[in-house]
Amino acid sequence: MGERGKVTYKDNDGRSRPMSNDVRIPFNRPFLTGNELRYISDAHQHGHLSGDGEFTARCSRWLERNTGARRALLTHSCTGALEMAALLADLEPGSEVIMPSFTFVSTANAFCLRGAVPVFVDIRADTLNIDETLVEAAITNRTRAICVVHYAGVACEMHAIDAIAKRHGLLLIEDAAQAIESTFHGKALGTFGDLGTLSFHETKNVIAGEGGALLLNNDALVERAEIIREKGTNRSKFFRGQVDKYTWCDIGSSYLPSEVTAAFLWAQLENAGEITARRITLWNRYHEAFAGLEEGGLLRRPTVPAHCRQNAHMYYILLPNLERRTAFIEYLRGQGIMAVFHYVPLHSSPAGQRLGRAGGSLARTEDVADRLVRLPMWIGLEPMQDAVIQAVREFVSQ
Ligand SMILES: Cc1ncc(COP(=O)(O)O)c(C=O)c1O
Repeated sequence: MGERGKVTYKDNDGRSRPMSNDVRIPFNRPFLTGNELRYISDAHQHGHLSGDGEFTARCSRWLERNTGARRALLTHSCTGALEMAALLADLEPGSEVIMPSFTFVSTANAFCLRGAVPVFVDIRADTLNIDETLVEAAITNRTRAICVVHYAGVACEMHAIDAIAKRHGLLLIEDAAQAIESTFHGKALGTFGDLGTLSFHETKNVIAGEGGALLLNNDALVERAEIIREKGTNRSKFFRGQVDKYTWCDIGSSYLPSEVTAAFLWAQLENAGEITARRITLWNRYHEAFAGLEEGGLLRRPTVPAHCRQNAHMYYILLPNLERRTAFIEYLRGQGIMAVFHYVPLHSSPAGQRLGRAGGSLARTEDVADRLVRLPMWIGLEPMQDAVIQAVREFVSQ
């Protein structure tokens, strides 16, 4: 609330502005399948509310079956899963990890916590994913890992990136926070690298409030991952009856979610197919509606290569420049429609400048960061989607 009780919002420059309408169409609204509270109550009745109970087991087995990962370990967030990946990567201060700059802070933070240096590589103009043709040039004798990010649930070029990682003996990590149910040549994202990470944050397709998972595709890392997740102890082995008592074995932390979270997540995972299908319908509607505007050169729509199945995590458009994007967001806000831009490139943020370095030009990252805007995208938007489409048409045709 601003002065005299008026509802305000911060514009892109951080100035407080009055909201001309109440928010009619929010940017996101979490979808509930209807079983969440029942399963939480079941967890309570089972008398097991801490981590690694029956619901955690169900979610883990679902993830393994549906992605093909060797092991799936639930975590309290994708950030936590990335931190586990960084611990498993055995980094030393000064080790380098190649990643895009056009990503969420956790991709870099997880490695910086271990004293490693993120080396930022530019993105492709089409999918906005790390440009695989630029990765090799960024490798030095300090490089230990490559961490790709599947932006908007659309796959990076994993065959090329996997070949580079193998050629140079680097650990390959996939930040698949946005990519549940997405595939590359029919194989689930998060299962190409040694490690993959998923997010179940409430802004994602399948949610648990806060939640995540670490997908392990390299058998050699499984035992240590279990230990790191359980405070550096072999408690997982103890619960399976494989050791008489559990003890401190390695460094680690507490990365497992409670059964309350897992019970909520189970209600979502068992409906993941339907969730994806409903989001795809919304995504296709935007995409078809904006085809003519793209042909007319008024905006650019997302690109999804034929060999990628995407999960409709987000629908974004690219406008000609920052001024138009700022005006667009304000125009929609004036109609009570919330559209938002995305990442401030990590290399240009204060921590990124201090802790990371550029691995070549980042011109495309900077250009896209100025022009991209995400439209409302949530199950339940259906009766309001035409109003969003109409507002986009009106603005870009002005
Ligand atoms: C690419 C990417 N990585 C990591 C994260 C962090 O996920 P979480 O909120 O589950 O920690 C996000 C969340 O927005 C993300 O988009």
